[in-house]
Amino acid sequence: MGDPAADLAVQGTNTSSITSKRSLERLGYLQPCHVEGATEKDSPLMLKYVVQKPSRRSPVINRSYYYRTETIRLLVEGWIQECETLGMDNCAVISLGCGFDPTFFRLKLLQERRETRTKLKYIDIDYPTLIMERLYMVRNQEKLFDLLPENPSKDDVAEFVSDTYSCLGVDLRNLNELEKRLEEAGITKKGGQQQTRMPILVVSEVVLAYLEAEESDAVIKFFADFPEATFVLHEQCIPTFDVDEQGNENLHPFALTMFRHFERTMTPLKTLREYMSIEDQRDRFQELGWPNCEIMNMNLMADLLVTPNESDHLRISQLEPFDEYDEQHWIGSYYFTAVASTGPKEGVSVPTRSPDVLRGIGLSAKLQHALFMTETPMDKSSYISIDHKSASASSSQRSIVGSIKWAGEVLFPGLDINRKGHSLTILGDYAYAFGGFGLDASDGLEDQRIFRARSQQTRLATMLRINLQDGTSQMLPRDDDEPAPRMHHSAVSTLNGSTIYMYGGRDGPTKVHNDVWRFTPENGWDPIWRARVNPMSNHRAPSGLFKHTANMMVIDDKEMMVVYGGRNGAGEANETIWAFVIPDNQWVPFMWRSSERQPKYKGIFSHSSVVVKDEDQRNVLLVIGGIHGKDEKVLNSVTRVTMGRTLNIDENTVLHWAEADEISLQEINDNSSAGRSSNSGDHAHVHSLFKPRFGHTSVAVDEDRILVIGGVSSPGLLLWQETVVEIRLKARTFQYLRPSSFRELVMVNHATVLDNSRNRIIGIGGGGTCFGFGAWWDAVGWALKL
Ligand SMILES: C[S@@+](CC[C@H](N)C(=O)[O-])C[C@H]1O[C@@H](n2cnc3c(N)ncnc32)[C@H](O)[C@@H]1O
Repeated sequence: MGDPAADLAVQGTNTSSITSKRSLERLGYLQPCHVEGATEKDSPLMLKYVVQKPSRRSPVINRSYYYRTETIRLLVEGWIQECETLGMDNCAVISLGCGFDPTFFRLKLLQERRETRTKLKYIDIDYPTLIMERLYMVRNQEKLFDLLPENPSKDDVAEFVSDTYSCLGVDLRNLNELEKRLEEAGITKKGGQQQTRMPILVVSEVVLAYLEAEESDAVIKFFADFPEATFVLHEQCIPTFDVDEQGNENLHPFALTMFRHFERTMTPLKTLREYMSIEDQRDRFQELGWPNCEIMNMNLMADLLVTPNESDHLRISQLEPFDEYDEQHWIGSYYFTAVASTGPKEGVSVPTRSPDVLRGIGLSAKLQHALFMTETPMDKSSYISIDHKSASASSSQRSIVGSIKWAGEVLFPGLDINRKGHSLTILGDYAYAFGGFGLDASDGLEDQRIFRARSQQTRLATMLRINLQDGTSQMLPRDDDEPAPRMHHSAVSTLNGSTIYMYGGRDGPTKVHNDVWRFTPENGWDPIWRARVNPMSNHRAPSGLFKHTANMMVIDDKEMMVVYGGRNGAGEANETIWAFVIPDNQWVPFMWRSSERQPKYKGIFSHSSVVVKDEDQRNVLLVIGGIHGKDEKVLNSVTRVTMGRTLNIDENTVLHWAEADEISLQEINDNSSAGRSSNSGDHAHVHSLFKPRFGHTSVAVDEDRILVIGGVSSPGLLLWQETVVEIRLKARTFQYLRPSSFRELVMVNHATVLDNSRNRIIGIGGGGTCFGFGAWWDAVGWALKL
């Protein structure tokens, strides 16, 4: 039927999947005690029995697999529970492309410990050769073998068939064979016409994407003929990133990297060529005979179902250090779960209704709540449904009222900067890019947009100087007594534009710097505060932070480098505002005056901040977006932070205080024009929210105008048209500005700075990764004209 070599490669994906799930089990992501009465020692998750060679996956792969595995577990168990609640005598779970997935054995334990009258039939299906391997393994593992049902009707090297569990070797592209073998295992399309009803749940976890679109369509259509069927499809999608005026789609570098990876491993994602977005998937299910279908991307599933509470986030954040939020959210945008079900069939003797698993597990209520309460700003790249047409009626293009022009084509000839999480500061006619993670541009072998293994990338300690007049750049020579390598640090220039102050950053997952360095073009680096935190000393100082922001501002006549948010070496988000007082070379903490219990503006990281003036001409800080440490929610807030110094009652000590108030912004858009996307349908309010983002930058052009640039959004993908947002403070409005032409830029973990002399904002570096498959960089540098 297919090319045997290609089929073998596809079967190999099972090893990678099951090894990743075993990695979760070993690290404690999965909770064995979801099986009542079972202890860790019993390993009711069973993964240890099916993976002979365990290996520890990277934190981002572990998290992604955790969301995926838990989503499927909750749906399968929720569906069975729903069948029990409905008082069904029988129900069946059919796992397509099961690989070595041990769910049956876990459920068997679960059922043994519970009283239920609903009889579960479980059917695992994969390629015949893989099923043979699976059965061999099961028979040679005492624990699994003991759980196999007794008295099977068929039990040979290639197949196991019994009343409660069957393991069938069938190529899913052969539907006649599939139908025949399912019948042998007791599953027929007649369903509701039989004396006993048999609702079925079909699970396809990253399987059908490897088939040609028409082949996977045929499988989905095949199961639509079952009267009480639910189909759970979990696999990759390609959310729309940009569509140009001619209707051509520009893919996000994440999508390009993912496609390339699967082509290279000889397991191309064939279905994806036909069905890219979750809208495509929704239409597909509808056309193939599924009247009900809800689709959520993995970010939304994680938010609403897998880790809805602070305690869930706390638990997984304690399992291993994690900081790859950008990659995690991209992965979450590129995987979806569809839950489709068939409706009542005409002409059947027994009235039928597919068990509603989403209602059963409480997800329907949460989706409704989120849609109407706008807590989770969903859009059609994160949630789509057949029932809620209006939520998806808008086109994938955001209607843009404003635009912004690039300042020139090749601004920095020869610039090839492959780094992210660096800093960028201007002194005179030069911009200085320091540190970050990536490849040194001085590496002669380096070439932009070449995918390289991660091992070749590292935290950097080099400084690139860019001449803003002619665009040339030069790597500055480095001495030993200079700042250590670091990423996600901060660097700001003094208000007179003579000196750069650099603080913090991390080198390694938990090694976080707390030093302050001063740089001048004349004297180079000077360590003015290096690792001098002494808990006994009178002078308090931050313990070392990364992913914070720093701004130079005047507070009651003193120039200070104000450090906001960030994370410490233990990964905790910082709630204290710290300022390094320039004339005193000393840190001071600011005390929050507000009494709110858990305000969102405290304990955040990966946000951006700018300094503006308030009505009294005082410097205030505007903090935009970021990630809230406690629940890891991506923020869409814009908060104004006012700081001051007052003498204490004793008049000898000074109290540094801070106050915050959230600013609500209205989106400017042309309501009158026809075909507008952003406020059509019932859920207009959802679209008019300032989209959540992190890993972005902000630049205050003047007292009124702030540009927010790039970043990662959640739960959906940040569209190219949403990359640049203009905030007008006086009018309390914002609007999206479409750059004059599409450029292959992602603008994430990049650095921007206002180049006042040339009336432009320049952006340097930034990039991302797609699993461990490859990295991409914004290597050439760019500028936006003001
Ligand atoms: C990525 S693995 C996923 C395994 C399992 N569902 C999981 O999530 O752990 C893909 C599985 O689909 C199976 N598969 C792909 N195409 C298939 C086909 N045409 N017929 C049967 N199985 C197929 C492969 O053999 C492999 O076991």
